Amino acid sequence: MHKYETRTVAPAASLRGEILVPGDKSISHRAIMFASLAKGESRVRGLLRGEDCLSTLKAFQAMGVEVVEKGEEELIIQGRGLDGLQEPDDVVDCGNSGTTMRLMTGILAAQPFFSVLTGDQYLRKRPMGRVIDPLGQMGAKILGRAGHKKAPLAIAGGNLRPTEYSSPVASAQVKSALLLAGMQIEGTTTVYEPHLSRDHSERMLRYFGAEVDSFPGGARVTGPVSLSGREVVVPGDISSAAFFLVAGLIVPASELLLKNVGVNPTRSGIIDILQKMGGSIELLNQRELSGEPVADLLVRSSQLKGIEIGGDLVPRAIDEFPVVSVAAAFAEGVTTISDAAELKVKETDRIAAMCAALGQLGAQVEPLDDGMRITGGQGLQAGTVNSCGDHRIAMSMAVAGLGAAGEVHIEDTGCTATSFPNFWELLARIQA
Ligand code: S3P
Repeated sequence: MHKYETRTVAPAASLRGEILVPGDKSISHRAIMFASLAKGESRVRGLLRGEDCLSTLKAFQAMGVEVVEKGEEELIIQGRGLDGLQEPDDVVDCGNSGTTMRLMTGILAAQPFFSVLTGDQYLRKRPMGRVIDPLGQMGAKILGRAGHKKAPLAIAGGNLRPTEYSSPVASAQVKSALLLAGMQIEGTTTVYEPHLSRDHSERMLRYFGAEVDSFPGGARVTGPVSLSGREVVVPGDISSAAFFLVAGLIVPASELLLKNVGVNPTRSGIIDILQKMGGSIELLNQRELSGEPVADLLVRSSQLKGIEIGGDLVPRAIDEFPVVSVAAAFAEGVTTISDAAELKVKETDRIAAMCAALGQLGAQVEPLDDGMRITGGQGLQAGTVNSCGDHRIAMSMAVAGLGAAGEVHIEDTGCTATSFPNFWELLARIQA
């Protein structure tokens, strides 16, 4: 459990400087998982040391994976191969991390031992049927609370058969869980999705030597694959950079350079959204790191305007809607977010949480069944808001505070350690 803290953010006159955001959370989880399942040693640099990824690391250590830390910078993981994991001798705690729980469920469903996964009060409320049902179609034996829909989950692994599954939701966690189960067994497993979700699993499995086929509408793997230890360099997290992109746009006279940010097209929806709103964001020094596209992002204060957001753009920016709604409060006109019902089942119900928090600061916001409508242009007032224990709500409201007319008090901010341990430090630095 994170610390309960209240923080105050005062309006900023201008923001300036260069920032290195921490490693990408999704890529960090996968680096730990695939390095553990590979044969031989992997060296991982730039890994996110947030609580979510530490949950994944501890889970694999509990299954016998040896990990050596080389300072802050590098982690050396001795992979055990697909059949070298040991049965954990206790319940595995996934903390707040949906990615840990859903991807591990896929991995463990194919392992010939018993395991139990649990998580914090927020994770235990989130839907797990979306991975349990299709894994059940592969023959997995997984029990859980609420009619096998919620954690804790008990997994009696082994004896799976491949499947072909059409997911009703565009979810990288669902897609990955099935690919990770399918890659361990004989035959071809195919997952179709309604819109393309982030493809880090597909990219990194290929980087570790597996044949994974990405095609319009889905991905497939033929198992059993053989993964070999690699050097992985994790790029900066665009979902963490997003807070500084919006801050740089809404605070006057600002210019920020965010270095080394992952710009995978399945994740870069936030750049498209903010540019469409009239934001000045330039991509510099574009390059590739361990199979992932990376760039430096230069952002300058801009007058934003309201836009309509929906369709394919939604999964490409799924974690950024809290901070998009803050940008929308500072934009002239109406912003409508639709096709985003998934926001209700994130770390908290992000539609309800953002409508409540922005409403506290005087914004005109209206929840919709599948998103929200924000009428911007009047700015935000001073006030007190609550993060609902959700790291991205806490950080989005800090950005709101930088642009508001008076101080914003944010309750329950310890949760930022989930994905961005040095967020408050960086926020202070660019105002100095
Ligand atoms: C993630 C996938 C997304 C995202 C989450 C991380 C991943 O969730 O919201 O923060 O690493 O695969 P869904 O797959 O539920 O959309």
